[in-house]
Amino acid sequence: MDKFVIKGGRRLSGEVVISGAKNAVVAILPAVILSDQPCIIDNVPDINDVRISLKILREIGAEVSRLDTCKYRIDPTTIKRFCVPYESAKKMRASYYFLGALLGKYNQARVSMPGGCPLGDRPIDQHLKAFSILGADYTLSQGMIDLKAQKLTGNQIFFDVVTVGATMNAMLAAVKAEGLTIIENAAKEPHIVDLANFLNSMGANIMGAGTDVIKIRGVEYLRGTEYSVVPDQIEAGTFMIAAAATKGDVLLKNIIPKHLESITKKLEKIGVNIESFDDSMRVWVEADAPLVKVNVKTSPHPGFPTDMQPQIATLLTLASGTSIVTESIWDKRFGYVDELRRMGADITVNGSVALIEGTGRLNGAPVKACDLRAGAALIIAGLAANGVTEIEDIFHIERGYDSMEIKLRQLGADIEKVAIPDEVQTNLERNNLSENAQAV
Ligand code: EPZ
Repeated sequence: MDKFVIKGGRRLSGEVVISGAKNAVVAILPAVILSDQPCIIDNVPDINDVRISLKILREIGAEVSRLDTCKYRIDPTTIKRFCVPYESAKKMRASYYFLGALLGKYNQARVSMPGGCPLGDRPIDQHLKAFSILGADYTLSQGMIDLKAQKLTGNQIFFDVVTVGATMNAMLAAVKAEGLTIIENAAKEPHIVDLANFLNSMGANIMGAGTDVIKIRGVEYLRGTEYSVVPDQIEAGTFMIAAAATKGDVLLKNIIPKHLESITKKLEKIGVNIESFDDSMRVWVEADAPLVKVNVKTSPHPGFPTDMQPQIATLLTLASGTSIVTESIWDKRFGYVDELRRMGADITVNGSVALIEGTGRLNGAPVKACDLRAGAALIIAGLAANGVTEIEDIFHIERGYDSMEIKLRQLGADIEKVAIPDEVQTNLERNNLSENAQAV
């Protein structure tokens, strides 16, 4: 196991190239299954969720070859199996996209219930509802979801909640279904649009992605394509906040400013300077400029993204005044707060609301990442803190950020990835077990 060791207090400056979007590519890779020819996918981030997705594609029989650092050729015509093994599927939430893709192509799928970040209740009732409306039967047994359909027929799907995953899965299952499918109350995130663009580049007929009504006319055949994944909105937002937290001056490259509007507006209210260009953005704060409190409420796109909530809460611990952060998507997304308190943050959490007393400073401490974006927030805290911060369980971070510590070092951060000797790791795990036992 590894940890990050960060010596804080250094201003970030320079240029960073943002990678392809995790939450787009984890849907696009399974979507290749729907093609009747090989596809080439470019701008693929080098993250663990991609490695798991490619491993699953190989396990079901697709031929996967790496053409370049971020470029893969995937031939789905050799797929022979429609079951995603538990060992692979349990490692990430997005394994459930193999349900929609396999069902859409072969009228059958068998995938383990998904894993992913512990953010509270993460049901998949809306996914199953969409599959049923299109004509599939499902059973749940031994932690596996089994889908079968005689044939899939276009229909009207109205989601009870705005759900990214179910919107993606409904698109995957509907692109080859006979007739017209209308998805209402659809999610509008940039990664939804990216999946629709990818499918349309193969010859699908999807209209309205990015709005709350998506119309899909089923097609018989989907040709091979070459497609580049959209830049990662959340990685970009994370670097914007890292620049602000260290009062740095950073140019983000390979971004789409439109996707960052809600983050940009909020950061400008805090006192961050932002200048947008076609595919880049400069983010800076003068060394003596104050950061001021704001209130943030997460909501589906185009609102402030829930995946940026831990990061902006961390920034607000450095601002003057009392900020209120309301999490409206997940019921357990404040797990990082205890870790920030170890660094001197003054945060009170009551249900879905965090009250942040900006103290203007954080102190380095040993902390632990509890999920992907919580880990990113702790990195930001360590960069801004006085002294040394050590972050354990960085595997959470490496699931969704490509070469984070390398990109930060290139911006002047003092951050190293350090291996934890096995005997120390064993003791840590033993201590955790005893702590948990005492906690009970
Ligand atoms: C996706 O998760 C992202 N993950 C999450 O990002 C992100 O936080 C979330 O969308 C919201 O934007 C991926 O794309 C792999 P949802 P997903 O379905 O699809 C409820 C990260 O940090 N719901 O939009 O699982 C659900 O409980 C990760 O990159 C149902 O009730 O989220 C939640 O309250 C963390 N029934 C709300 O909808 C369902 O069938 C939104 O969930 C599905 C969801």
